[in-house]
Amino acid sequence: CGIVGYIGTRQAQDVLISGLAKLEYRGYDSAGVAVGDGACIAVKKKAGKLANLSGELAESPLAGTLGIGHTRWATHGLPNDTNAHPHATEDGRIVIIHNGIIENYLSLKEGLIARGHTFKSETDSEVLAHLIEEAYAGDLYEAVRVALGQVRGAYGIVVTHVDHREIVAARTVSPLVMGVGEGEMFLASDVPALLAYTRNMVFLHDGDMVVLHDDGFRITDLAGQPVERPIDHIDWDAEAAEKGGFDTYMLKEIYEQPQALTNTLIGRLHDDTGEVNLDIGLDPQSFKRISIIACGTAYYAGLVGEYLIEQLARIPVEVDVASEYRYRNPIVSEQTLAVVVSQSGETIDTLEALREAKKGGAKTLGVINAKGSSMTRELDDTLYIHAGPEIGVASTKAYTSMVSAFVMLALWLGRARGTLDETQARDLLHAARELPRLVEEALAPERVEQIKRVAEKYAHARDYLFLGRGVNAPTAFEGALKLKEISYIHAEGYAAGEMKHGPIALIDANLPVVVVATESRLLEKTISNVQEVRARSGQVIALLSDGDTENARHADDVLYVPRAHEMVSPVVNAVALQLLAYFTATALGKDVDKPRNLAKSVTVE
Ligand code: G6P
Repeated sequence: CGIVGYIGTRQAQDVLISGLAKLEYRGYDSAGVAVGDGACIAVKKKAGKLANLSGELAESPLAGTLGIGHTRWATHGLPNDTNAHPHATEDGRIVIIHNGIIENYLSLKEGLIARGHTFKSETDSEVLAHLIEEAYAGDLYEAVRVALGQVRGAYGIVVTHVDHREIVAARTVSPLVMGVGEGEMFLASDVPALLAYTRNMVFLHDGDMVVLHDDGFRITDLAGQPVERPIDHIDWDAEAAEKGGFDTYMLKEIYEQPQALTNTLIGRLHDDTGEVNLDIGLDPQSFKRISIIACGTAYYAGLVGEYLIEQLARIPVEVDVASEYRYRNPIVSEQTLAVVVSQSGETIDTLEALREAKKGGAKTLGVINAKGSSMTRELDDTLYIHAGPEIGVASTKAYTSMVSAFVMLALWLGRARGTLDETQARDLLHAARELPRLVEEALAPERVEQIKRVAEKYAHARDYLFLGRGVNAPTAFEGALKLKEISYIHAEGYAAGEMKHGPIALIDANLPVVVVATESRLLEKTISNVQEVRARSGQVIALLSDGDTENARHADDVLYVPRAHEMVSPVVNAVALQLLAYFTATALGKDVDKPRNLAKSVTVE
């Protein structure tokens, strides 16, 4: 999760520990460093808090002026001393750390074992050390480059070799930033780790490789061609650095969604076979119904999940808010699968509802972000969403990652239970794989500007209505929740077809109505609802798929989003509504990261 690297004149251990401490806020479960003194590289790593490691290092320091350090958030393999990074080859001459997920690590590992390599850890990362060892013929940079040519997945990787006074690093998806000092060079996964040492930084791009020496660096692409990157002077203070230069954590997290989604999906979808691998022990035939239980934003992700699972896997699903579920004497049996959804894994209502479901004999599965959280200790199985730490109180990237996890779960269940054939599965799988790119597109500057203009136009509205249908009805509910949470404007989310049974009474010229009307088999029906709003002088803000000029005619304002397969469109659509809420709140001068009366994780009833 956190990476720091150093080469220069200082004792590397001190730079590594202080840098990793600055990344602690991101969460981790173990930590380790490797320090080289020219003759050997010593590795020390410990499960648990950084203090465990720094305590040991204080008693028996590792001397040397070159080093790499890491804090780990487990993906493959338990959080223990052995699985902590750095990982070394058997002879200890090559040492690596790695963030991300190697998708094809199992086949790579089998090959390496067949060729005589022995593995110490259960991590996917260790294959990188062995691949580099195999490719090494005196040039470390070249060995890393050749090894990465065999790897599919996401990585920020940092490598050093006992015979070379240099650090070699590379990235795809996982971030890396380099700090440029005088007679010393730094590397980190995130700016805050380096601010105490230098403000001259180079942000590496996807597909960049870099070699760091005491007095300079060299960047290439993965084909070995030189690449130029500017040195930026960073004048952020510590807090701004944690926000990655954005004004707020919430905005940073909104923009992190392409990466969060990549991390949710990676290694789990196999285009070639149309199969989904969720790495859970659950027998997909062992239950007859599903109860999805959650609070707040996670509850709305669960509502999308209901729609997806019923459509794609034909299993009856009910969704409950946890505080209701736990007290309503729910009907549970061994034939029930209870799915709890939670960013924090700590929300007390959800935790108690999980216990209630277990008491009734249900099998349990969690869709969870926070590793090692209370719920994960009581669940039979956990499908981690890997969205990374979410600090803004109003949930954004956790929501889209949760919805994507439900896309995968529905696909997996549909395949296992035979309700989806291979062609349908591949089609959906392809649509899911597109999500990071589509969300990136949804965040294009001209779209964001348009959303901001619309937000400012209606920022003084007293009420707002959000409408949507089918798989996007929950998109409307979540859009309304986001707006009320951070702007304090009263907002209601409604199933579009239900509007005529009540909320239609509220419509007048002062009521902005956001209608999610992206491509769907029910689009015509939604457009009829738009007409009903217009006929009563309501202000229509339509969320439309790119190119839909026809339906734009019925709206006062249009927010275009990239076209997506209907089943995955809630992910793309949510992004536009997050931004609408965000810019409304900032136009009104509200503190979006800490909205009044709300807490990030509610551990009281
Ligand atoms: C709080 C937060 C919400 C969140 C809900 C559930 O109310 O303010 O943003 O959706 O808890 O949190 P969880 O961690 O269980 O997803």
